[in-house]
Amino acid sequence: MYKFVINGGKKLSGEVKVSGAKNSVLCLMPAAILANGNYKFSNTPNLIDSISMSNLLSSMGIEFKFEENSIEIQNNGLKTFEAPYEFVKKMRASIYVLGPLVSRYGYAKVSLPGGCAWGPRPVNLHIEGIEKLGAKVEIEQGYIIAKADRLKGAKIEFNVSSVGATANILMAAVLAKGTTTIENAALEPEVISLAYFLQKMGAKISSIGTKTLEIEGVDELNSANENVIPDRIEAGTLLTAGAITKGNIKISRCNPNHLESIISKLRSVGFGITIGDDFVSLLSPNSIEPVDIETEIYPGFPTDMQAQWMSLMSIANGSSTIRENIYFDRFNHVPELIRLGANIDVDKNIAVVKGVEKLTGAKVMSTDLRASASLVLAGLVAEGTTEVLRIYHLDRGYEKIENKLKKLGADIERVYIDEF
Ligand code: EPZ
Repeated sequence: MYKFVINGGKKLSGEVKVSGAKNSVLCLMPAAILANGNYKFSNTPNLIDSISMSNLLSSMGIEFKFEENSIEIQNNGLKTFEAPYEFVKKMRASIYVLGPLVSRYGYAKVSLPGGCAWGPRPVNLHIEGIEKLGAKVEIEQGYIIAKADRLKGAKIEFNVSSVGATANILMAAVLAKGTTTIENAALEPEVISLAYFLQKMGAKISSIGTKTLEIEGVDELNSANENVIPDRIEAGTLLTAGAITKGNIKISRCNPNHLESIISKLRSVGFGITIGDDFVSLLSPNSIEPVDIETEIYPGFPTDMQAQWMSLMSIANGSSTIRENIYFDRFNHVPELIRLGANIDVDKNIAVVKGVEKLTGAKVMSTDLRASASLVLAGLVAEGTTEVLRIYHLDRGYEKIENKLKKLGADIERVYIDEF
């Protein structure tokens, strides 16, 4: 077990590179179920979640070779079509195998993911979607069992914009017989990137980048390669690390177009931002003004940046509100930030953050990936020493974040502790 020991107060400066996107590679890998052959994903991040996804797909018979920042995949045909609870409970994105398995093999047995650190994470849209495509679905002893001779194209309308359900149904529809329309499709860059990758594999998808996707099913696909898009949430987290320390940093190998909502909010609280083709530079003001935010589906302010933003607002020059519209109870980081001296009140899905003069270092506990990131950011500015425990949560979605922060001048160490 590891913890971070952070001595706060260092202004960050310098340049750091952004890694490939976790939430892109996690939907690209299951797409390799759809066709035999060799795949190569480059600019991949070294994350626990990528390993978890490869372990799940290897258990079905797909072979992996991990290089420094690339993954080579060989699919010579699957041996099994199951995603056991042991895999799915560790990583919810395992549900992404459902669509491709039913679509290509006509059978899938996938564990229901259960809840996560901040509450229920339903998958009804995934199940309803493949039923609309003609699959027979039964829920037995915590498993989704889906069967189909061959999926048939259908009109599918999501009443909620869902990243995962859009990705799953997209991967199901590409081999279905006939035409599928997906209404209210998610527009997140990771979903768009998946659609373009499926096109590279021979899928017939039109209107990519709009909320209505048209898919003409084909009989067979071929393997392909892909360069993974930069991680917009890691980029936003690193920018916020520079901001909370009132430093001046440059993040490179990112896609500024994916960061518009974050950049706009940073500008509105006083930060100077310069944008290039693949970099963003941040210049800090003397004082950070408060601003209200609401999390929205893309291109709105991302829920995956809500916790990190709360850390920044906890030392702003006044009060701000944070309204969480995607997951109404994604506030596990609040009690831990309060331990660091933040002044935050939560009422249902709204947090009121009253900026304080300073935060003070303490031991705090990670509960989930983005909550952990918010605690690290707060530790960078808190007076004295902050210890962030259970940082395995962080390692799921950030590639050695301490090295990147150290490169920017942070005093942060990863320390082994002999804890359960
Ligand atoms: C993806 O999760 C991301 N995970 C999440 O990032 C991210 O928070 C989320 O999208 C929202 O942007 C990956 O890409 C692996 P959703 P996903 O389906 O697909 C409701 C991180 O930190 N919903 O877009 O599970 C759901 O409850 C992770 O990297 C249903 O009601 O999210 C939520 O309120 C955390 N029924 C809303 O839709 C369903 O069947 C959006 O969820 C599915 C979702």
